[in-house]
Amino acid sequence: MRRKGTAMIKFIWAGIACLALAGAAMAKETNMIKLPPPDMQGGKPLMQALKERHSTREFGARPLPQQILSNLLWAAAGVNRPQTGQRTAPSARDWREIDIYVTTADGAYAYVPDEHALRPVLKTDIRARTGMQDFVATAPLNLVYVANLERMSGADAESQALYSAADTGFIAQNVYLYCASAGLGAVVRGLIDRDALAAALGLGAHQKVILAHSVGYPKSEGE
Ligand SMILES: Cc1cc2nc3c(=O)[nH]c(=O)nc-3n(C[C@H](O)[C@H](O)[C@H](O)COP(=O)(O)O)c2cc1C
Repeated sequence: MRRKGTAMIKFIWAGIACLALAGAAMAKETNMIKLPPPDMQGGKPLMQALKERHSTREFGARPLPQQILSNLLWAAAGVNRPQTGQRTAPSARDWREIDIYVTTADGAYAYVPDEHALRPVLKTDIRARTGMQDFVATAPLNLVYVANLERMSGADAESQALYSAADTGFIAQNVYLYCASAGLGAVVRGLIDRDALAAALGLGAHQKVILAHSVGYPKSEGE
């Protein structure tokens, strides 16, 4: 009887230990910054957004509200079919190899489409490192499109370059169209010191910076 009791106590302690471990793992996950659900209603009609899409290189300092950032990232490459995890932008062989890094005055984050959340990457302002033009240091938001080559199974180097560039283009155009719809300015950029930016973001050899995208309210709004 006593033996049975000891075994039960051991069993309970083992359970508590398991729960503690699970709790620690969850705490790690809670580093994630959950974005508000994207507003999928409204916006300008597609033809009007296409009519208004253009590049802007002068931005006001006003940061983007979290709801706008949520909408923007969802439009860029958010999940629009939860049953499959597929996204607003197509990707070759459904590799979903393009990660979007978000850089602001507060730091750098990686967008996690499946959770519609931001994973903190850096607490420093590396906006100036995302490009070689003066305005990038002050644009409230600079997105960085990074291809994770490990997800492009079976692709040789030429295919990796071709498809990661094409897949980035779809995402970038989604961003342009959302910006046109929401009255934001934007310019996609290739003029980047890619090695310096990869080092700043702590990227691995399998991660390639493709393009960056500056976004903000147009300076003409007087800010
Ligand atoms: C792949 C790509 C790379 C670009 N790189 C830069 C860049 O580094 N800096 C910049 O100011 N504009 C850049 N642009 C923006 C183009 O200069 C701009 O799209 C072009 O002048 C046409 O203007 P629009 O976008 O207003 O139609 C780039 C555009 C693309 C598609």
